[in-house]
Amino acid sequence: MAEREIPWWRSGVVLQVYPRSFADSDGDGIGDLPGVTGRLDHLEDLGVDAVWLSPFYRSPMADFGYDVSDHTDVDPIFGELADADALIEAAHARGLRVIFDWVPNHTSDRHAWFLASRSSRDDPQRDWYVWRDPGPGGAPPNNWTSAFSLHGEASSWTLDEHTGQSYLHSFLPEQPDLNWDEPAVVGAMHATLRFWLDRGVDGFRIDVAHAIGKDPELGDNEPGRRHDQDWPTVHTRLRAIRGVLDGYEGDRMAVGEVYLLDQGALAPYVSVGDELHLAHNFVFLNLPWSATGFRATVDEFERLAGPDAWPAWCLGNHDHPRIASRYGPGPARVAAMLLLTLRGTPFLFQGDELGLTDVEIPPDRVVDVDGRDPERSPIPWEPPSRAGPGAGFTTGEPWLPITPDAERVAASVQAGDPESMLTLHRKLLSLRRATPALTEGSYRGLEAGEDIYAYERGGEVIVALNFAPEPRAVGASGEGTLLLSTRPVAREGMEVDLATLVLEADEGVIVAVSRVRCP
Ligand code: GLC
Repeated sequence: MAEREIPWWRSGVVLQVYPRSFADSDGDGIGDLPGVTGRLDHLEDLGVDAVWLSPFYRSPMADFGYDVSDHTDVDPIFGELADADALIEAAHARGLRVIFDWVPNHTSDRHAWFLASRSSRDDPQRDWYVWRDPGPGGAPPNNWTSAFSLHGEASSWTLDEHTGQSYLHSFLPEQPDLNWDEPAVVGAMHATLRFWLDRGVDGFRIDVAHAIGKDPELGDNEPGRRHDQDWPTVHTRLRAIRGVLDGYEGDRMAVGEVYLLDQGALAPYVSVGDELHLAHNFVFLNLPWSATGFRATVDEFERLAGPDAWPAWCLGNHDHPRIASRYGPGPARVAAMLLLTLRGTPFLFQGDELGLTDVEIPPDRVVDVDGRDPERSPIPWEPPSRAGPGAGFTTGEPWLPITPDAERVAASVQAGDPESMLTLHRKLLSLRRATPALTEGSYRGLEAGEDIYAYERGGEVIVALNFAPEPRAVGASGEGTLLLSTRPVAREGMEVDLATLVLEADEGVIVAVSRVRCP
């Protein structure tokens, strides 16, 4: 029997591109699809296998594209449909897969479906959204609250004077929730998947995937039990979505944003093998910087997820403060090694490969409702001394301020520096690609010294990471050749004994094992 080929989404690495902030091709200060196509060299040189694009569909931009008003067209800010086709084609020509962001839980309040639904209680599309009579005195129908809490908790219900009923919105009032209990909604949303699958997209990141199953009785959330998400029906719905993808050739993939901070609740989404292919792990993303914490989380997921499950590790995205700001610049290099050597599919957020930090946004430039502008600051491609204040991102005025550090951290500057964060990422990705033990190999956590997280991959490679800001002994058993270090002063090529090796502050190493001593 021929050996089963490993699907790309298990062996590959995915870079998330936030199109508004990646590259602007027309000088309006906002990144766009031709901008992404024009910068595919960066992805290829970095060595990633796939790109996930945050939404670029038609949208009033109340939530910067996560409020979709037409799933099957490109917003003029980002280009036109032909630009999406051209991007897919150009990426494929380079062997890069393309994943689009699919937002099934809600639409924009300007979507034709919602306009019809809100027009009257008798409209045939009334039940496409969740409408209820308000409680006494116009009170919300239940205690569910909306996810954006920067400015305090708010009900997820808005009363619509026109028909005297309230509609549900798990996010902004401009993002009414679709009613997945209504079969016509399921059919219409599946059709939007097919629209892009037919155009050649390799898969989807599913926005708030756990939220498309809710208690149909709309029961109040209780301590320890939420009724507005992760309801058992979610699994049936994800299986049907998987069915749509499986109807296409070529390993189409679905990765869910399953924002559940409990790995026991997360595991069922990927364990059986007929729902999501992958689910982002937000327990991992939210960890404080500690060797024991990361080890315990990885070990717990390995234990909870079934043999068919495959982990998807990420430490950043467009909703969270940047890695280098949360953990610091030294740990950010260790975090890169961790992400790219664990068993599972790594997801990188654009700019983390440059070690970008959050950018301070002056109050008069704040645009996001939930405080997420700092991590969405545009990519500095060129030093401003060469490319002007737009740093190669734009020739116009950028929609968010660009890092004041652009001169030093610009991609083109880092590309020529053997000690830069970008060079470290390129080396990690190329080593990963050349080392099957780092992709398909088994994972085994090792006994190690204080502040060290050490693990073995496929019996061939040991990774040892120092989480402390000072030197620490690895204290694990094994000998071999040091392939890569996160420290600028590399000790690459040295023979090392992990029992006596001392790592520098914030140093991680990858060692090709010549001998593992039995404990
Ligand atoms: C997801 C997205 C976030 C968006 C929200 C509502 O969490 O990542 O950016 O605001 O869903 O669509």
